[in-house]
Amino acid sequence: MSILENTLSRRAMVKVSAGAALAAAVPAGTTACAPEPAPTITPDRGRAIELLGAIWDQAHPFTLTELPYPAYALEAAIDTLTMEIHHGRHHQGYVNNLNAALEGHTALHGRTLVDLVAWWDALPQEVTTAVRNHGGGHLNHALFWTSLSPEGGGEPNGPLAEAISGRFGSFSSFREEFSNASAAVFGSGWAWLAAGADGRLEIVSTPNQENPVTEGMTPLLGLDVWEHAYYLRYQNRRGDYIQAFWDVVSWEEVERRFSVL
Ligand SMILES: [Fe+2]
Repeated sequence: MSILENTLSRRAMVKVSAGAALAAAVPAGTTACAPEPAPTITPDRGRAIELLGAIWDQAHPFTLTELPYPAYALEAAIDTLTMEIHHGRHHQGYVNNLNAALEGHTALHGRTLVDLVAWWDALPQEVTTAVRNHGGGHLNHALFWTSLSPEGGGEPNGPLAEAISGRFGSFSSFREEFSNASAAVFGSGWAWLAAGADGRLEIVSTPNQENPVTEGMTPLLGLDVWEHAYYLRYQNRRGDYIQAFWDVVSWEEVERRFSVL
């Protein structure tokens, strides 16, 4: 891969936290991220699986991960029909399309989902778009479902709470910054709380179905702001959906991911 290709691939993510001032200072169409070295995904597979769950280790043929609660369980924040369509059709569609794209590429069948998504731009050209879109879609949604809970909401505790306060000033400041990043995603994409290789927390956004792993970061909490995630109930009121999201965040799960870093 050329330096140019590598640099272009790193344009996808815009750092929001810490780099906010820098992001605001660069012209539209550019990125606040300086070119970074190639991402390094933890070589400790056991730790990574513990961190991100079994989805990390899935390989072709990929399968839809089950919701960890009934589709109606998040009704207070996300309506049942949206959950059913989002999981059963959209997420299933990413799985189906990823499998179809890799069908004839047997050399890639042993590669894990995270490995493929992290290195999508180094894969054979025929599959890069499919892995970037549908592989990322599969990974993102699998992480999303497990970061929500009908018993969610409130604030994190323990080391994660301390890390968030230390990084963002307070939980309320973090929540506001994350909400603003979610609202600012143009079109379809995600906002994330992610950890860099040094464990430093960042709020980042990714377009379409890209994931922070492509930047060598570990996703801890993601919010899907594609319209398919909220339009039935919230229509164009993405801000209301974002506020409702906070009521179902499973801080227990995010704390668990953070604890494995
Ligand atoms: Fe989605």
